[in-house]
Amino acid sequence: MLLLLLLLLALLFQGGDNKDDFQGPTSFYLIQISSFPNSTWAQNQGSGWLDDVQIHGWESNSENATFLKPWSKGKFSDQEVTELVDIFRVYLIGFIREVRDFASVFQMEYPFEIQGIAGCELCHGEAPESFLRGALGGLDFLSIPNCSCVPAPEGGWRAKKFCATIIQYQGILEAIGKLLFLDCPQFLLGVLDAGKTALQRQEKPVAWLSRGPTPGPDRLLLVCRVSGFYPKPVWVTWLRGEQEQPGSRRGDVLPNADGTWYLRVTLDVAAGEAAGLSCRVKHSSLGGQDIVLYWGQPVSIGLICLVIILPPLLLFIGFALRFMRHR
Ligand SMILES: *[C@@H]1O[C@H](CO)[C@@H](O)[C@H](O)[C@H]1NC(C)=O
Ligand SMILES: *[C@@H]1O[C@H](CO)[C@@H](O)[C@H](O)[C@H]1NC(C)=O
Ligand SMILES: *[C@@H]1O[C@H](CO)[C@@H](O)[C@H](O)[C@H]1NC(C)=O
Repeated sequence: MLLLLLLLLALLFQGGDNKDDFQGPTSFYLIQISSFPNSTWAQNQGSGWLDDVQIHGWESNSENATFLKPWSKGKFSDQEVTELVDIFRVYLIGFIREVRDFASVFQMEYPFEIQGIAGCELCHGEAPESFLRGALGGLDFLSIPNCSCVPAPEGGWRAKKFCATIIQYQGILEAIGKLLFLDCPQFLLGVLDAGKTALQRQEKPVAWLSRGPTPGPDRLLLVCRVSGFYPKPVWVTWLRGEQEQPGSRRGDVLPNADGTWYLRVTLDVAAGEAAGLSCRVKHSSLGGQDIVLYWGQPVSIGLICLVIILPPLLLFIGFALRFMRHR
């Protein structure tokens, strides 16, 4: 059954060899963060993601899933979704109980935090890949490929002991395997299709230049801001002529509230050398028509002057003409 599905998917994606223009996410994964501040209190945080777009949340008070997009359930029926949410509820509640019960065996010292990521990814022209990794206190702990458990070196004796224990519960590993290798790819394909319009949309960036806080005497911090673009990949850099400036510093691509992205790229230059620098923005929505903004662009200043001066000037000319006519 699994083989059949993989074969089918492989065939499906073979037809996509010339799919280089494919836009949008290729992976779905769940993130779990479980905090254990002390022996009496613990909390789970959960979320579901398509690459960098969050589509599911987890209400830790009501232990229930939240669906952040109208298409977050993909092609799964309400009943299938309810069953999956039930599985995660039982799992998350059980997780806290088990960790507490085994805390002394594993010599865990409060406070500690456990992180998990599990999901699947469509690989260009190949069968989807699934993954599950766990971390303890920010260090890799284990991974679960192919119904086995592989302790991470950073996990030390605890990870080895954990894997040795879990491997005895083949039922659990098989259930995880079904979720990862069957349900996940099926859900991913469905949700990519259900959310196609939103996920493959193209939103053009808006870019503008400004001056940042002065980095030092006789120096300028040039700031190029780019906002409102979708999807996330974007290329922004400072140039002199066609020459990329190695001092360009790229910030993190940050989310806007409307689901589009924002980026800030700065350049620290000597005050006398700012003229002639430009900020260039390449993005898939621009269809090869890069945005290029020049620092201290005389035209833009000229334009602003024109916009400010023109209306009073016209008014004055109008008055003058009328005055002359009257005369
Ligand atoms: C355990 O941690 C929680 C959350 O930080 C805190 O509110 C609570 O008072 C702590 N309990 C004890 C017994 O320290
Ligand atoms: C979870 O939330 C859904 C609505 O989003 C609701 O229909 C369902 O009854 C809730 N389940 C539980 C167990 O609270
Ligand atoms: C999965 O199992 C196969 C054989 O059972 C093995 O060759 C492969 O390396 C395993 N994959 C990973 C990621 O360990």
